[in-house]
Amino acid sequence: MKNEDFRRAGYQFVDWIADYIENLEKYPVVARVEPGDIKKMIPAVPPARGEAIEDIFRDFERTIMPGITHWQHPGWFAYFPANNSPASVLGELLTAGLGAQGMVWQTSPAAAELEEVVLDWLRQMIGLPSGFSGVIQDTASTATLCALLSARERATGFEGNESGLRQPLVVYASEEAHSSVDKGVRIAGFGRKNLHRIPTDDRFALIPEKLAEAVARDREAGLVPACVVATVGTTSSGAVDPLKEIGGICRAHGLWLHVDAAWAGTAALLPEKRWILAGAELADSLVFNPHKWMLTNFDCSAYFVRDPATLIRTFEIHPEYLRTGVDAKVKNYRDWGLQLGRRFRALKLWFVVRSYGVEGLQAMVREHIRLAGLFRDFVESDARFELLAPVDLGLVCFRLNDGRGDAALDDLNRRFLARINAAGPVFLTHTTLRGMYTIRFVVGQRTTEERHVRGAWDIIAAAAAEVLKS
Ligand SMILES: Cc1ncc(COP(=O)(O)O)c(C=O)c1O
Repeated sequence: MKNEDFRRAGYQFVDWIADYIENLEKYPVVARVEPGDIKKMIPAVPPARGEAIEDIFRDFERTIMPGITHWQHPGWFAYFPANNSPASVLGELLTAGLGAQGMVWQTSPAAAELEEVVLDWLRQMIGLPSGFSGVIQDTASTATLCALLSARERATGFEGNESGLRQPLVVYASEEAHSSVDKGVRIAGFGRKNLHRIPTDDRFALIPEKLAEAVARDREAGLVPACVVATVGTTSSGAVDPLKEIGGICRAHGLWLHVDAAWAGTAALLPEKRWILAGAELADSLVFNPHKWMLTNFDCSAYFVRDPATLIRTFEIHPEYLRTGVDAKVKNYRDWGLQLGRRFRALKLWFVVRSYGVEGLQAMVREHIRLAGLFRDFVESDARFELLAPVDLGLVCFRLNDGRGDAALDDLNRRFLARINAAGPVFLTHTTLRGMYTIRFVVGQRTTEERHVRGAWDIIAAAAAEVLKS
């Protein structure tokens, strides 16, 4: 492609994205296609000759767009958000344009140094103490894997890397911890059976006394407790594990404490919600995802460690071809995680924080939490509904309950959710809490306003009337 064609198409594409953002509400949130529909429209063999960008773009609109589920839609109340913003998209565009690969300081000093500074901004923004150092990982899953690997190495005096595991090491997490912990313990070599799930209280938060009992029991049985993964904002209900008590147990027994605050960490931007991270100063590592709730397009996960030396010792490898003359003076982030090659993700984060300012980001999060509170009030004021978990942040868990038996209620709510989502303007997803089919309503999109939450409630109330009739 000639540079002038690139320039012309680039202007058009930015216009297209701006129109897309403006018109999001015209789309149904979820793609209305069947499995295989999109694949059918794409040639099975690659083109032998280059094609004009106009033709490729026409096919993007015709073939790809029908299969897009619109995460940035104001009616997105599903899973957790992955919100973006114009500032972040523009930062990402520059990252792609520069095409810089930041594996070591020398391969783009600005990428390494901006990452260091912006991550320290984030640390201050969520109130972590100054001893923590940050690094960007692709996802919380990867950050948690890094934590598990570091915990393994610290527990074995770095023998795990040398000789492999010789004795079972145990990882603890609540019954409500995310599946990325299960995945991490498998990959890091702990073994699935050595992830011990700890019971939760009536707010779905880990019970510290049960953790202390489990650690003592395992020690007695000859196992080696190595790590606790505490969750701040569980996926199913938004529960916050008590970090102070958990941290005390970890300190007493020399266990690594990793805090998974993937979604809820952003709420710590608000002074009135800082309590969720009380005790985080006792952690060895913590992750939260600006790519979930902080207007930074996927992917961008902020991973903080108290002792970078342990992280680096776990991951560093020094082949001759990667050595540079400044290694002793700089941060080479290739040693701070799994991958060698690294995208310049700090740029979009810098754009976001500067474009909104801390106060702008706080205002967004505060409004989302207010809107979730409004939705909770709707649920609580309608006798057909039952609230299934406390609402501290932006997530409301609820179901219809007309008193029929458990299995029948699950079936009713399954049909209820399908009816809500069939309407088109909103998308909600489900989980189970204590075995009960539970509908989740998460407010977290940049474009979501009060009218969207009220509109969602109208759709939900109408769907309730329909399914209760049938
Ligand atoms: C609590 C929690 N931890 C981890 C994750 C995984 O996040 P990622 O997609 O960044 O790996 C999620 C995803 O929603 C989550 O809710």
